[in-house]
This record gives sequence, C-alpha cells and structure tokens, in this order.
Amino acid sequence: MKREQWSSNFGFLMAAAGSAVGLGNLWKFPYVVGMNGGGIFLIIYIVLLVLLGAPILMAEMSIGRHTRLNAIGACQQLNKNWGFVGFAGIFGAFIILCYYGVIGGWVMKYLFTYIFTPGINKPDEYFQNFSSSAAEPILWQLLFCAVSIIIVIRGISNGIEKISKIFLPLLAAFIIIIAINSVSLPGASEGVKFFLIPDTSHINSFKDIFSIILNAMGQVFFSLSLGMGTLITYGSYLSRDSSIQKNAFYIPLFDLIIAVLACFAILPAVFAFGLEPSGGSGLIFRTLPYVFGSMKFGRICAVIFFALVFFAAVTSSISLVEVIASYFIDSRKWSRPKACIIPGIVFAGVGITASLSFGLLSNVKIMGESIFDFLTILSDKILMPIGGFFMCILTGYIWGMPEMFREMSSGGKYKIYFRKTISFLIKFLAPAMILIIFITSFI
Ligand code: PFF
Repeated sequence: MKREQWSSNFGFLMAAAGSAVGLGNLWKFPYVVGMNGGGIFLIIYIVLLVLLGAPILMAEMSIGRHTRLNAIGACQQLNKNWGFVGFAGIFGAFIILCYYGVIGGWVMKYLFTYIFTPGINKPDEYFQNFSSSAAEPILWQLLFCAVSIIIVIRGISNGIEKISKIFLPLLAAFIIIIAINSVSLPGASEGVKFFLIPDTSHINSFKDIFSIILNAMGQVFFSLSLGMGTLITYGSYLSRDSSIQKNAFYIPLFDLIIAVLACFAILPAVFAFGLEPSGGSGLIFRTLPYVFGSMKFGRICAVIFFALVFFAAVTSSISLVEVIASYFIDSRKWSRPKACIIPGIVFAGVGITASLSFGLLSNVKIMGESIFDFLTILSDKILMPIGGFFMCILTGYIWGMPEMFREMSSGGKYKIYFRKTISFLIKFLAPAMILIIFITSFI
C-alpha cells in the first residue's frame, strides 16, 4: 500500500506546529517564565530552542522522511539494534496521552460551562469539587480521547492535516484577541514586567543559573514534542519537495510566538486583578476564572480562551495518537481504525486512574507520587530525555551526519546552512546537555 502524504508543506507545518503548540505553551510556559527570572529565562529558552530544539527537530524529521516508517521501524531500519529508541518514544506518547486526556477533558468541561452557563462563581471550590468527583471528569476525558481518536482514524491529509489547518490559525487569532484585551486592562503592566524584565533577585549562585537552564531545556523538549518520535512519524509522510531545514525554522518560531503570546494573554490579566500566578492546573482552572468573573465581556473571553486551549490540546494529542497508530499500521498491518481504537481503549483506561487520582484514588501512590504526577514525571523527566539523547546518538554516530544532510537536502535540491554547527550540536552539545540534565534532575 502506498504511504499517505501531507497534501502540502503548509499542511505538514500546521500539523507539526499543532503538535508543538499545546498545554505546554498555554499553562506551563507563562508560569515557568515568571518563576525562573522572567526575561533571563526567556533569553536562555530562545538560545536552547535554537541550539537544541531545531537540530533535534531536523534529525527526527530526516529519519522519518528517509525511512518512511513509524518510530520503531525507522530506528530499526537505521540499525537493527536501535528500535528501542522508537519504542521509548511510542511508550512515552502513550504515557503522555493518559494524562493529556484528563486535562483535555477539564478544558472541554470549562469551555462548555462558559458557553452554556453565566460563569463560575467560586472557582477554587468549583475546581476542587469537579476534579475530585468520580464520574464527570472521566466522561469529559473519554470524550476528549474520542475526539482525538476519530480525527486520527480519518487519516493524515483528511484528518490530522485538515483539523490542524483549521484549528491552528483559529488558535493564533484567538490568542491575539485575548492578549490585546489582557494588556489593555488597567494595572496590566505588572504582569508584563513579571515575565519580560530579567529578575536577578533569585539568582545568587551558579546553582541557580544552572537550575534555570535545566528548566528551560525541559520546556524546550516538551514544547517542541521532541524525543517521542512525533516528528519521525510526521516526517514519514513528508514529501521530498519540502525543505526540512525551513520547517525546522518555522516550527520552533511559531511555537515560541504562541508561548510568548500566552504570557501576554494570561499574566497581565492575572496581575491586573491582584492575583498571584500559579503553575499548571492552578493557573488555568483556578486563577483565570476569577479574572473572567471580574472582567467586562469576561464570559466571551472565557469561551474564546478555553476554545483556544482546546484547539491546542487536540492538535497535540492527535500527534501522540498518530505516533502509536502508525506503528500498528506499519508493523502489525492493522487497519487505521483498529490501530487507533485498540490503543485508545488502553490509554483512556489508564487515564481513568489518573483522573481518579484527584479524588477516589488520591491515596494511591507510586514511588511517593499520585498516579497523575507519576505519569507526568515518567514522560517528561525520564522518557523524553532518554528519547532525545539516543535520538542524537543514533543520528550522529550510527546513521551519520552525511546521511542526514543528504536526506535534508532532498538529493541536492536544497542547500543546507550551518552544516558544521548542526553536526557539533547533534553529536556533542545536545547529548551532553541532556545527560547532565538527566543526571542532575535525579540528584
Ligand atoms: N508539545 C506539546 C505541548 O506543548 O503541550 C506536548 C507534546 C505533544 C509533547 C507531543 C510530546 C509530544 F510528542
């Protein structure tokens, strides 16, 4: 059977940027920036995006397009003993899907609440009651998983590409509207300062700088969807008429712009209403409803905001489903619906336990963490760095840089810029940094 392809490079770009732009940009980035020295973090983040993010992106896309296979098959084709790198990716994608579905479900619940009711009165209490109840969050989680699975069942150009081409531009438009509204609130400037002005008061030692670098690197990996085989999988459907280097420039750029816009959209509003920014679920589900509640046109803003978070979450989650489905389609010759539905039942099922860990199962601990936290740590802190590290080694030393450049140039069609620098980054700097971070995060 002929392998499916993206119908255009723009379609691929929207899908790949859609995978990158997700909850990582909208609920994690604004907070992480603020807590890590504001402007200083932003500068380090951009440097790492260029030095680590873009080269690994190029490597993954090249491996995918060269082999035209899923993550495991692609790594195995480069060297038969290296399938484990792809396996770590597919396993990681599975783990992320388990908890991504829980948050995706919460986002849908909030979106519907703001569409159909006047708003949320006591956000803290509301969130606490909702997230700790048994049935309702699970129903929303299953609905979110079902939406992602149905899109992927429709295929590459008809499902993933079509949806990304609609959702991503809408997301970009919505976030601009919210950001403009947020910075024009009285008192918003405090929030802008919080993330733009470098704050050195927390930096007292080399260790502090190091910890900022660690956080920035973790964020680069998560935000660009690196190390999970996503770009191998998406790259495997990419035509040789596309320039990999150009795509590896636009994807991080788009991802960065949305992350910065998220800061403009969220932080000024939070500060304008005298609230404290918090991290993760606290920011979106507990703090922002206060902001929407006291804002003119708050309900409309809330609908637009949760719609954009929903779009971001869906375009990321479908990329994770595709990573898994493509393996079963290529290697096990399963039909596309079967390759989406059977793993879907499993990750949705495991996801239910993650959802229940906010209530019924809150006492169940795995290595001292709740089920939900354990899954996030396993994927973000263990599987992603392992995947990224071995991806660099596989490309730099096993496959070889000349082969990668040959693929990138589409047989000489495209000129490759900064060859030596890219080689150095993939062979030395990126793996060394990942290793250091991996080890120190355990110490
Ligand atoms: N990049 C997504 C985000 O920022 O939310 C998360 C993600 C998607 C991570 C796909 C990894 C992945 F393979």
